[in-house]
Amino acid sequence: MTAGNRATASTLNLEKIRSDFPILSQTVNGQSLVYLDNGATSQKPQSVIDAIVDYYTTTNSNVHRGVHTLSQRATDSYEGARTKIQRFINASDDKEIIFTRNTTEGINLVAYSYGRKNIGPGDDIIVSNMEHHSNIVPWQMLCEENGANLLVVPIDDTGSLVMDEYQKMLTPRTKLVSITHVSNALGTIQNAKQIVRMAHDIGSPVLLDGAQAVPHMPVDMQDLDCDFYVFSGHKLFGPTGIGVLYGKAEYLEAMPPFLGGGEMIKSVTFEKTIYNDLPYKFEGGTPDIAGAVGLGAAIDYVTNLGFDQITAHEEELLRYGTELLSCIDGVTIVGTAAHKAGILSFVMDKAHPHDIGTILDEQGIAIRTGHHCAQPVMHRFQIPATARASFAFYNNKEDIDALVKGIDRVIEVFS
Ligand code: ALA
Repeated sequence: MTAGNRATASTLNLEKIRSDFPILSQTVNGQSLVYLDNGATSQKPQSVIDAIVDYYTTTNSNVHRGVHTLSQRATDSYEGARTKIQRFINASDDKEIIFTRNTTEGINLVAYSYGRKNIGPGDDIIVSNMEHHSNIVPWQMLCEENGANLLVVPIDDTGSLVMDEYQKMLTPRTKLVSITHVSNALGTIQNAKQIVRMAHDIGSPVLLDGAQAVPHMPVDMQDLDCDFYVFSGHKLFGPTGIGVLYGKAEYLEAMPPFLGGGEMIKSVTFEKTIYNDLPYKFEGGTPDIAGAVGLGAAIDYVTNLGFDQITAHEEELLRYGTELLSCIDGVTIVGTAAHKAGILSFVMDKAHPHDIGTILDEQGIAIRTGHHCAQPVMHRFQIPATARASFAFYNNKEDIDALVKGIDRVIEVFS
């Protein structure tokens, strides 16, 4: 997705789509809700809500444990969701799909299981200056523990990775590159394939944080060729509490488990425990079965709309919003990379982002304000915070017009 140049016009039926999302039809503070905080979490279509209700109404049981009918039905639903995810991201095998709670847990799992085994004193882990804290702190914790170094690829004034600097950091000491696919604070879409290729050239595996990518664009594990990919269900129109770690089987097979307990074992004695096969080795304890089912329904929903349509529509929203906000005196967009997802971060000369968010909320407009769990990005741009409008396919141009009207109100209040 880019802020320009796409020929395909979207033919999404927005009226129908919006009616699929019951939450969107409410009023907030006496105004029609304008939901522009999709980067934080997305709303859920009725089909996802129904799938969860149906699961608890007809199927609820524990998975992989019982011979009884409900347990088998629950197992089929849970494993069916895994297969949907495998197809959705074009993984080679469904054993490469590990259910987690969220993106953060996926990254921590890799830091714990891959990192502690394979990264040691003097080794380098490379991240970028535009990472979410969840792709910084687990690596800092690992480095503190084992004496590895965390290297940070700088970003330029548009919010794009400085690829020459990245190239210079790649050495035989590099043991992992862990980079976001799309920046949550800036909207930058990275050249992920090139990042992976360059790391592979020096023999380093790559983890991509796909939390902000999967709601907006197709992701294909064969095409990207990354070694790990993580995302959250709730940003992809699914429920909270369910996430995904994709890992190439060769890496996952060689990694020790993350959480010990039930389900992740084949046999346990006090002398020796044999761990389970993939993917169960990494799924200790009863998983979020209903969450997986809900995520499967969300994937059905977006697949049915089609990413050609979703991407074209969101590009149009981004182009429209960028044009309008650029014309407002005293508003500066933060993050102007050539390739962006539907995220508009901005600051205003006279109003703090928190005041912007509060005044917009009075008009029923939901955005996120603050550092977006990406404080190093704020430091890079020497600002304390931004106001961030982030789009999903159910947003329309009227939502952006409402945002602009809301910003006009902020200007009025602070003039
Ligand atoms: N990481 C989420 C965001 O960017 C919560 O808002």
